[in-house]
Amino acid sequence: MHHFELKDGVLHAEGVSLEALAAEVGTPTYVYSAATLRRHYQVMRAACDAHRSALGEALIAFAVKANSNLSVLATLAREGCGADTVSEGEIRRALKAGIPASRIIFSGVGKTDAELAFAIEQGVRQINVESSAELDRLIVVARSKAASPAIAIRVNPRIGAGGHAKITTGGAGDKFGVPVEEALDLYARASASDHVTPVGLACHIGSQITDLAPLEGAFRVLRQMTEQLRAQGHSVTRLDLGGGLGVPYYGDAETVAPADYVAMAARVLEGLDVEAAFEPGRLMAANAGVLLSRVIQVNERTDGRRFLVLDAAMNDLMRPALYDAFHDVKPVRPREGAALAHDIVGPVCETGDTFARDRALAPLQAGDLVVFMSAGAYGAVMSGEYNTRPLAAEVLVDGERHAVIRPRPTYDEMFAREPMADWL
Ligand code: LLP
Repeated sequence: MHHFELKDGVLHAEGVSLEALAAEVGTPTYVYSAATLRRHYQVMRAACDAHRSALGEALIAFAVKANSNLSVLATLAREGCGADTVSEGEIRRALKAGIPASRIIFSGVGKTDAELAFAIEQGVRQINVESSAELDRLIVVARSKAASPAIAIRVNPRIGAGGHAKITTGGAGDKFGVPVEEALDLYARASASDHVTPVGLACHIGSQITDLAPLEGAFRVLRQMTEQLRAQGHSVTRLDLGGGLGVPYYGDAETVAPADYVAMAARVLEGLDVEAAFEPGRLMAANAGVLLSRVIQVNERTDGRRFLVLDAAMNDLMRPALYDAFHDVKPVRPREGAALAHDIVGPVCETGDTFARDRALAPLQAGDLVVFMSAGAYGAVMSGEYNTRPLAAEVLVDGERHAVIRPRPTYDEMFAREPMADWL
């Protein structure tokens, strides 16, 4: 469910024409729908509230890495959303967007001492500890601040899942978390320290997961560990279930409804009397955003290949190059005509800068606008300036309103970040 629809033959984001936006802001530009973001939060909220007896006052902590634009975060903050963060920068963004520290979880496999100190100073809700070495450092940092932050131990349940090997995190060989036995030991060690307060367990087994079975398996591991820890006399009050639920990038893709996912979690945790946290990223932001781009030209070659050359490239939307990810491409003003096979590419000088091969599209012409659908998660956040291409602009639409929430930098602004060495 999203708010990008044709109105009078032109694709709109809510009440705003994407043609008008392209004329005003230029391309390539990410366009987000506030109503879609809110709706996704509310669907998760309602699902959690329907299972309060099993999940407690469940926290929905948006995975900031999926889309960290301040206005996107502020839109979610106003709904009551929390944040899952993985760096000091992300904590700072969440706070700046109005997400209280009490709703911020700090995760990540390699947090520096400075980042841990910052998280403690800000009083984040919970630090998810991912290794024995990290626990040692955290205790030292917390002692120096006479603090005892709430922590969860991240378990690697040896159940990996996800849309691509590069985004699977729960497999035995993956770098995240610690195996079950070690997690139990770390929990006991943490309990014995005056400078950390273990409150629970965390896991996150992968991203773009389209099947409940692996998630259920991981949640069962958390349940069993909770029972074991309690039997040993430890207090376990929170379970962080991570994110990972997939979205339908293809029109007919099979995915799991958020309500079914939350209901499954409730079934697994029933009677345990814990407070759950979910860390959805993609689920909240993916189809709340599109990448708007203009056709530079159509290269019809004598060998029969038809290349649609766009002004967006791999530096703007890296997912196809990095994960062979599929993004639906739609014209902003659809033309009549039989579909033809197009190779959709950007101007960057490598073959990796190919968004799609043999994609069936009605013929397009130079100057036409297209959008990459479901680009609101892991789109702008992963962009860069390769080939000295300015970062894409970002726009937030809310009903009839719109705002440029990240202007495209000028070349002067880009160069100003590179002071010339004083001997040159
Ligand atoms: N929690 C933790 C600890 C995570 O590492 C992640 C994502 C999430 C939550 C959110 O997962 P989600 O609900 O979005 O699946 N760049 C990749 C995705 C990387 C995900 C990394 N971790 C992509 O474009 O597909």
